[in-house]
Amino acid sequence: MSDTLNNSLRTLCEDVDESDIGIEFTFKGWVMHYRDHGGLIFIDLRDYSGILQIVFDENIDNKSFRNAKKIKNEYVVSITGTVRKRPGGTENAGLKTGGIELLAKSVEVLNTCEVLPFQIDEESEVNEFTRLKYRYLDLRSKRLKDNLIFRSKFTHLIREFLNNKGFFDIETPFLTKSTPEGSRDFLVPSRLNHGHFFALPQSPQLFKQILMVSGFERYYQIVRCFRDEDLRADRQPEFTQLDMEMSFVKTGDVISVAEELFALIFNKLLGIELERPFKVLDYGEAMDKYGSDKPDTRFGLIINNLTDVFADSQLNLFKDNIQKGGVVKAICLPDGSNLLSRKDIDELLNVVKDFGAKGLAWTKVGENGLFEGGISKFISDDERNKAVARLEAKNGDIIFYQSDSKKTAENVLGRLRLHLAKKYGLVPEGRSDLLWVVNFPLFEYSEEEKRVVSVHHPFTSPAEKDLDRLEKDPLSVKSDSYDLVLNGEEIGGGSIRIHNPELQGKIFEILSISPEDAKLKFGFLLDALSFGAPPHGGIAFGVDRILMILRNESSIRDVIAFPKTQKAYCPLSDAPSAVKDVQLKELGIRLLEAAGKNIKSE
Ligand code: AMO
Repeated sequence: MSDTLNNSLRTLCEDVDESDIGIEFTFKGWVMHYRDHGGLIFIDLRDYSGILQIVFDENIDNKSFRNAKKIKNEYVVSITGTVRKRPGGTENAGLKTGGIELLAKSVEVLNTCEVLPFQIDEESEVNEFTRLKYRYLDLRSKRLKDNLIFRSKFTHLIREFLNNKGFFDIETPFLTKSTPEGSRDFLVPSRLNHGHFFALPQSPQLFKQILMVSGFERYYQIVRCFRDEDLRADRQPEFTQLDMEMSFVKTGDVISVAEELFALIFNKLLGIELERPFKVLDYGEAMDKYGSDKPDTRFGLIINNLTDVFADSQLNLFKDNIQKGGVVKAICLPDGSNLLSRKDIDELLNVVKDFGAKGLAWTKVGENGLFEGGISKFISDDERNKAVARLEAKNGDIIFYQSDSKKTAENVLGRLRLHLAKKYGLVPEGRSDLLWVVNFPLFEYSEEEKRVVSVHHPFTSPAEKDLDRLEKDPLSVKSDSYDLVLNGEEIGGGSIRIHNPELQGKIFEILSISPEDAKLKFGFLLDALSFGAPPHGGIAFGVDRILMILRNESSIRDVIAFPKTQKAYCPLSDAPSAVKDVQLKELGIRLLEAAGKNIKSE
């Protein structure tokens, strides 16, 4: 790395090495550490390339030594001196420049720095709120700086790859129309049209489809999306998608471009060769075996169906539930008897209750596959033998059972398996599992809305083979869609789209969206589809989520320069904040109640 902007005036810390010994250079940067050892002062100087140790020696250069006395942590300085080899035994193997140091000849303070609210690079004791309030300081830490530089390389690589493949990078509007078929919109009031609102886009979905109608054929954009939803470690109100769309393609074409791109990213940025094609899992199988449509396949604990085994169970809990159409499913924790105390097992009950379980039945597996503890006395020899065989259970394992509706049992066991894997360290370190989940249902029934809703979005094409059941049995229809899952996180999703306005109309009908409503909400897309729309499909990837995983972080906030807290608040800028009455008046807005304090907490 060299400073191409300013080569003659400064050198970057990590641009010098042993071959520069004896040569004079000027470095500019921040004082990361300052150590006064009597007649010697040591500074670790930091710039964007890295760190270099500087020495001020009272006996060699008294003037610069006296000037160095005035320096404090995080001062911005310009230092000129000569590179020398570090004395034997003082080398630092952890630093790229650990074999050398700069003997300073002069120092100029370019700027001072207030007393720091926290020590940079010493993260453990500082709460995240304070770190976000002083984000500019936190971003000086090696971890966050490296994350953002990685992010820059990541987006650069993507652009290079897609440009070479003939994709066009086309921007779409941020001030757009509210299309309430997804999450909640962020609204922007119009000053020129009182009572009318723009919505910030949840994704460029409709516009990218319209670009296909316009004939661009291959579109991509690395674009901000806005969703006003409850936040979690893997969600932000504004996040970045790599959004793509292609004309005249089938599922296999989209999947193939995506795999090529991910293989390149893993190879170039992590030095990992991905095996291609990626694994493909049917949605039904993912739910059956992992209780999730974004299964983490890096470890076992597969969910097994024991409904047939317990059909005549003497446990009413099992038998009654099965008779009502419910299921009994189970997972087997290898060596569970050693990993969990009786108290740990009891505490798991509270864990699964949070997942929606009514209870948690269990049995330990003893010698010869005999059961101990929990519900073992209610299980017949035959049931036990079948359960042990199906779960491949061994001496020392613990089996956890859920008897409930298929949906609840799978959801609870799916989440329990993640909980156990995390708590007992069952996820192999350094392993990356990338897989496609396909054959999603096109619709699902929403208890909340008491109507059929789209599993993805209403522009997703039904699977061709299921078209004849669209009206008779819509809930049995699969979609022509695909999600990409990395280590149990949904990192992307897309589909082949409906390009026929009639079929699109039929889908709206099934979703109980009237033709008037459809026209009001999506009229511009429907119009566009009727003017020669090519068959098309695409996908969007969650850039922040991918980076979070590739950088081994536990929150997407750590790969975003200026993220919001869990309460969608920015401690750095104090946004959102109240605005002046005159601003509201201009927008034709009167508040129902005066603005209170904003949420200044995480
Ligand atoms: P979808 O809604 O699945 O698809 O979004 C695509 C990907 O974006 C990421 N993502 C998020 N990341 C951070 N914070 C959020 N709040 C958030 N919400 C979603 C996920 C997800 O897989 N228009 C369609 C794509 C298409 O059909 O082409 C769409 O937006 O990683």
